[in-house]
Amino acid sequence: MRKKIVAGNWKMNLSLDEALALSNELKVIINHHNKQAHSRDVSRLPEVVLFPPYVYLTKVHDVFVHDGSISVGAQNCHHADKGAFTGEVAASMIRSTGATHVLIGHSERRTYFNEDDALLSQKLKGALGQGLVPIYCCGESLEDRESNTFKQIVTDQLVKGLFWLDKDTIKSVVIAYEPVWAIGTGLTATAEQAQEMHQHIRQLLSEKYGHDTAEQIRILYGGSCNAKNAAELFAGKDVDGGLIGGASLKAHDFFGIISSACS
Ligand code: 13P
Repeated sequence: MRKKIVAGNWKMNLSLDEALALSNELKVIINHHNKQAHSRDVSRLPEVVLFPPYVYLTKVHDVFVHDGSISVGAQNCHHADKGAFTGEVAASMIRSTGATHVLIGHSERRTYFNEDDALLSQKLKGALGQGLVPIYCCGESLEDRESNTFKQIVTDQLVKGLFWLDKDTIKSVVIAYEPVWAIGTGLTATAEQAQEMHQHIRQLLSEKYGHDTAEQIRILYGGSCNAKNAAELFAGKDVDGGLIGGASLKAHDFFGIISSACS
């Protein structure tokens, strides 16, 4: 059975003090839950990963380093190992902070920073080369949804950006389906719409890599997911948790989502 993941993408929010306060609050809530819960229930919690801004990675990682309840990742990386790329951050640098994950191809990167599938392939290579777990994001715009091309758009993003990986390597990747029209808008995909796309993605994985490999890969939903709608969204057979933006900035809201992903 695939273990669910709940990931919090803080985007470009919070001061350092606020980031540490949120991290510590989450740690207290999770530890409290684990103390109250039967040991069987502790193992039912999903994997939790936080994606703070780069400059907070080390400090946020330090909050969780001893209890291991939460992993930390970066929101982006540069594709090169090192070099004259002023202002950029390499996967090796991310790894050296203790972070274990990285988001690749978030729609905000695709839209505002013109990241295309060819560049994202290079970033993936850089991240995998450092042993980071990439969360590869895909998702259609409102226009694509309304013109009924949404499945083709997501298919293209996966085929061009991801499906050049071999069968062994693809298993270390997590996919996040984030319909652009649902991000930060309060408009959530219905549970049926989410499941339909996740099933489509798993079918593509199965055609390319075989049934067994496809069954091992986690596919997260993102887009206005909150403590109220998470349980319904996560109930989809092919929905393996969520990538959360706004609702990950409040500890109790985020823990509500984490609880909805208990197996
Ligand atoms: P919201 O949860 O704020 O809609 O953001 C989703 C997202 O972009 C996570 O990466």
